[in-house]
Amino acid sequence: MSLLRYDSSGVRLADLGITDAQHQALEPGLLDARRQVVESDPKLLEGTSIPPDRQPLDAAFYLLPERLLEEHQQHGDASQLGRILETAGRLRDTVDAVALLGIGGSYMGARALMEACCDPYHNELSREQRHHTPRLYFGGNHLDNDASRALIQRLGGNRLAEGLEQEWAIVVISKSGGTLETATALRQLLPYLQASCGDDAKRLAERVIPVTGEGGRLGSLADKLGCQDRFPVPDAVGGRFSILSAVGLLPAAILGLDVVQLLQGAVQMNEHFRQTNLLDNEVLKYVTTCHLLETQAAVHTRVLSVWSNALNAVGLWYDQLLAESLGKDERGALPLTTLNTQDLHSRAQQHQEGRRDKLITNLIVDSSRTDPLPVGPHAYGEDPLDSIQDATLSTLNGAALEGTNRAYQDVGRPTADIRLPAGDEHSLGQFFQMMMLATVVEGKLLGINPYGQPGVEMYKNNMNEILGL
Ligand code: PA5
Repeated sequence: MSLLRYDSSGVRLADLGITDAQHQALEPGLLDARRQVVESDPKLLEGTSIPPDRQPLDAAFYLLPERLLEEHQQHGDASQLGRILETAGRLRDTVDAVALLGIGGSYMGARALMEACCDPYHNELSREQRHHTPRLYFGGNHLDNDASRALIQRLGGNRLAEGLEQEWAIVVISKSGGTLETATALRQLLPYLQASCGDDAKRLAERVIPVTGEGGRLGSLADKLGCQDRFPVPDAVGGRFSILSAVGLLPAAILGLDVVQLLQGAVQMNEHFRQTNLLDNEVLKYVTTCHLLETQAAVHTRVLSVWSNALNAVGLWYDQLLAESLGKDERGALPLTTLNTQDLHSRAQQHQEGRRDKLITNLIVDSSRTDPLPVGPHAYGEDPLDSIQDATLSTLNGAALEGTNRAYQDVGRPTADIRLPAGDEHSLGQFFQMMMLATVVEGKLLGINPYGQPGVEMYKNNMNEILGL
């Protein structure tokens, strides 16, 4: 399978005042960071104790794709991946809707995968059009009264009269098992699910699928409910690094996505990261550009400029990954996802003429999933588009991208491209793994532990104190 490509030819280091010597000086640090990710961190995880200054060390995301695939090959249906596929199949056969409850790393990945790979109107399609996969609704990712009521109403009340359309389930994802938003949503939805199961405890137990870490409250609740199907968030995999664990794989499988391809894409990226020299290594090239611009040219804002609607939530997933991992010690770049061409009509002015603190990385899919759509003829000819009526939207989008890159380059605005071979699971697996690896490598260069999110605890402590929890 072809690998995604990172092209930074639109970033002219010399014009930004970055010298060859500064560029070369980065090499030993990059190679050492890769060695740590590939060799020392996995060894540390296997050992008996992790030094206090290395904690938390949530580095198990790196080999997770290989491990899940190997286990699946060896143990088939009894492996974790086998069980994920089995549970997803059971849900597809028995329910019409799934409420997916989770927040942060327990939510962004599933949303990114759904938006990237499913029909944009998935939940509005008939069961046949959805290939018999359930509708998927997100909850537990806010404390919004009206949004919560709407979800309860959608699932708990006013469902269609009889039959499968009435049946739904809850997938609840929380590594800690105690996150307020998720726990509240579960509490609010559970009685309605119970009622829809006719107070049949066995049926209820089949309709609640927890994905959680060891020893948390959600695990105890799952015990009490007697949930048969439950999945782990591995100990050394942090929330925003968990998309390729059951956290992302179960929702993806429920939606009928090819989770094996997703994992194989990540494995291909791992192999590339390990084996390819610095000059051709897509992960290390990406880190080099981002890090040099941030540390040597005060380019602190990283715009991920996505060129298809389907990739918008993939960009938001990356926002969280970068912000929560490296936004520490009063450092770390500011991530910003923009959706084009939509945001050319809102943000491009600032990117063209505003502060020179932005690196723009375009995220581009080379092919569309559906047949090319031409501009088309016009019965009244009241617009200026007759000469391009046979051109497709991909051609127009490509022209907008080229025009935008040229406009930024003409005024010395650094621009790079990441090109995905396709908008499919394999390419996405590559991208997710590339960004997780890049974030960790950059953390090592900066001397920032990319794992953990100590800053988030402060608001939580205040909130809990205010609520008397
Ligand atoms: O990246 C992280 O670790 C966080 O964003 C968590 O995923 C988020 O806070 C949700 O935590 P939990 O899965 O414990 O409910």
